Amino acid sequence: MKRSSKVFAVIGDPVSHSLSPIMHEAAFADLGLLHRYVALRVPSQDLESALNGAKALGLTGLNLTVPHKQSALRYMDTIGVDARAIGAANTITFSAGKIHGDNTDGRGFIAALNELEGDVPRRATILGAGGAAAAIVHGLLSEFAELEINWVSRTPDKIPQVSPRVRAQKYDFVQAGQSTTDLGQLLVNCTSVGLQGNTQTFPVKLGLDRLDRAARVIDIVYPRSKGGLLDQAQNQGLSVQDGVTMLLWQGVFALQIWLKKTIEQTTVKTMRNALAVALDRKS
Ligand code: ATR
Repeated sequence: MKRSSKVFAVIGDPVSHSLSPIMHEAAFADLGLLHRYVALRVPSQDLESALNGAKALGLTGLNLTVPHKQSALRYMDTIGVDARAIGAANTITFSAGKIHGDNTDGRGFIAALNELEGDVPRRATILGAGGAAAAIVHGLLSEFAELEINWVSRTPDKIPQVSPRVRAQKYDFVQAGQSTTDLGQLLVNCTSVGLQGNTQTFPVKLGLDRLDRAARVIDIVYPRSKGGLLDQAQNQGLSVQDGVTMLLWQGVFALQIWLKKTIEQTTVKTMRNALAVALDRKS
């Protein structure tokens, strides 16, 4: 039987740094598939024509990255529950002439969190209020029924009222030496602080000592920055993780949607290794 080759892409602007092609092509090779996955730069103003063009060209799926995740929703024929709740899509599927939007970032985050040992969190502190933070807050609220979240932003007025379990906070809330407030069992950096080439810092020095002693600290930025949040947290004995694990799992869940099958651990391992090799080459 002739094996068919499907085409996938990640679209964004910028997008050349994306590790998604390497991760997904490693998965296809592992699964014995002839599919291809490429990165294509699409500026904001061309999103609608790019989506229609991808549909016309017969692509099977797309991943969306900055700046398209939120704006793409208006071009979808149907939207999955997670994408609707988050207000953004990262995984697009073309099928029977229709465009469907999903969001695997929240589930991807939870799968990454579960790789770090720790108790069920009762209180979490989330830094930053962009699209990634919205997906992570949604993932956490869905996964942990009792969890209370302090959602910290430089502009707390813009934090959406997604649940009575979420409280919008300013940065004084997390400032070292300023308060005795318990920051809980989980701290997640969803800001662009620590991104390669970005010299910005948090508006305050973070009071990491107000986290539980067994707390987990996740920075969705990757690669991990020297002397940054994760180094500081690790020095305090906290368990830490950078953004590569979430990148991996959101990709695994996207593949499951596109291929309509469970991605086995051996393939996940291949994808993880491909990411590690690519990051190693970059450093
Ligand atoms: P993404 O889609 O990856 O979440 P984004 O929407 O640009 O990207 O969000 C990045 C977040 O980084 C912004 O929401 C911003 O948060 P707030 O302005 O709400 O605090 C946050 N951010 C960027 N630079 C920051 C800095 N120096 N200190 C604190 N937060 C910062």
